[in-house]
Amino acid sequence: MRTEVAIVGAGPAGLLLAHLLARGGISSVVVETRSQDYVASRIRAGILEHSSVELLTEAGLGERLHAEGHEHRGVYLQWPGERHHLDFVDLTGRSVWVYGQTEVQKDLVAAGTAEVVYEVTDTVLHDVATDAPYLTYTDKSGRSARLDAQVIAGCDGSFGPSRHAVPAHHYERTYPYSWLGILADVAPSTDELIYAWHPNGFALHSMRSPTVSRLYLQVPNGTDPGDWPDQRIWDELATRLGHGQDGWKLTPGPITDKSVLPMRSYVQTPMRHGRLFLAGDAAHIVPPTGAKGLNLAIADVALLSRALTAWLRENNAGPAGSYSDDALRRVWRCTHFSWWMTTMLHASGDEFDAQLQLSQLRWVTSSEAGARGLAENYAGLDIGF
Ligand code: DHB
Repeated sequence: MRTEVAIVGAGPAGLLLAHLLARGGISSVVVETRSQDYVASRIRAGILEHSSVELLTEAGLGERLHAEGHEHRGVYLQWPGERHHLDFVDLTGRSVWVYGQTEVQKDLVAAGTAEVVYEVTDTVLHDVATDAPYLTYTDKSGRSARLDAQVIAGCDGSFGPSRHAVPAHHYERTYPYSWLGILADVAPSTDELIYAWHPNGFALHSMRSPTVSRLYLQVPNGTDPGDWPDQRIWDELATRLGHGQDGWKLTPGPITDKSVLPMRSYVQTPMRHGRLFLAGDAAHIVPPTGAKGLNLAIADVALLSRALTAWLRENNAGPAGSYSDDALRRVWRCTHFSWWMTTMLHASGDEFDAQLQLSQLRWVTSSEAGARGLAENYAGLDIGF
C-alpha cells in the first residue's frame, strides 16, 4: 500500500493530523494497535484552550463542541480560608472550554476523514532517514502489510515505536506524587474549575458536563486505588476543597471510574529525524496540572499539517525544516507552565516550600501582572507561539 503520509497512532493527534492533511488535499493512512472502541473510551483531559477551540472550529470540527461544550471564563485558585477567581477573559480576552478528549476523539471519528487500520501489531518504522520511508505491521487477520509513504508522522504516544526511531536527547522530571482521579455521576459543585492548595495535598474539582464531575486528589506514588473507598475519597475532597468554607458545599455522588495517574515532565528533542516527524505525547509528556497535554498535541499537528502541506503540495520544505524548533518553542513554554502549576500547588512535605507556594498563590491572585501571567499561559497561547 502507498500513501503520502503514514501516521502511527489514531488518538487525537493522529486523527486530527489526517483530517487537516485531507483538507489540504494530502492522503494519509493511520495505523493503530488498539481497537476503535478502546481508543474512543479512554478517559483523558477535559479542557480545551482558546487556540485549540479556534483550530477545531476552523477545521469543521466545532459543531458539537459549541453545542455541548461549556465555555469557562477562568478558574478558582484556593487555599484554606481563601478562594479567588481568575477571569481569563478580563485578563487576556480568551476563554477555555470544558470538552473532554473523549468527545474530541468521537468528533474526529465521526468526521470520517481518516483512513484507519485498527488492531495492528508489530509496527516497525523503516528507512526514516531516506527519501523512501515505510512502515511494516501485521493486520488483525494476521497478514503482514507494508505501507510506503513520503513522510511518516509518529503520533503514537510515549509507549509507541516512533519516538525510538529518532536519535534524540531526553529531558525528564519525575514528581514524588501522583493523582487519584475519579469520575462521578453528580452535578459539579462549582461553576468553574477549582485548583486547591492544602497541607494534605492538592485537589482539583473539574467536570465533564452538567451531570458529570471529574475530581482529583494528590496521593503518594504507588497508591493503590483499592485503598481509597468512595467515602474516603469524598471526605478527603471535602477537606481539601474547603467544604463549609464561606457556605460552599461539595456534593458527593456515585463514582463511576477511579484511577491513579503518574506525573512526569518529559521532552525529547529533536521532533524530527529525516522523514519522520513526532507530534503529541510521542515527543513530550506534561504533568496534568494545567491541562496542557491535549492542547499541545493539537498545536503540534496544526504546525505539522501546515509544514507537510507546504512541502508536499508547494515544494516548500522551509516549514518542515523548522517544524521541530517551532513546535519545541511552545512545548517548552507549556512544559514550564505545567511544572510551575504542579510545584505551586502540590504538598512536598517541606515547610519552606509550603510558605513559598502560599506566597506565590497570594501574588498570582492579588497582582494583575501575576494573574495575567497565569491566564495567558492557561488560556492564551497562539498555535505558532
Ligand atoms: C482536568 C485535568 C487537568 O489536569 C486540569 O488541569 C484541569 C482539568 C480534567 O481532566 O478535567
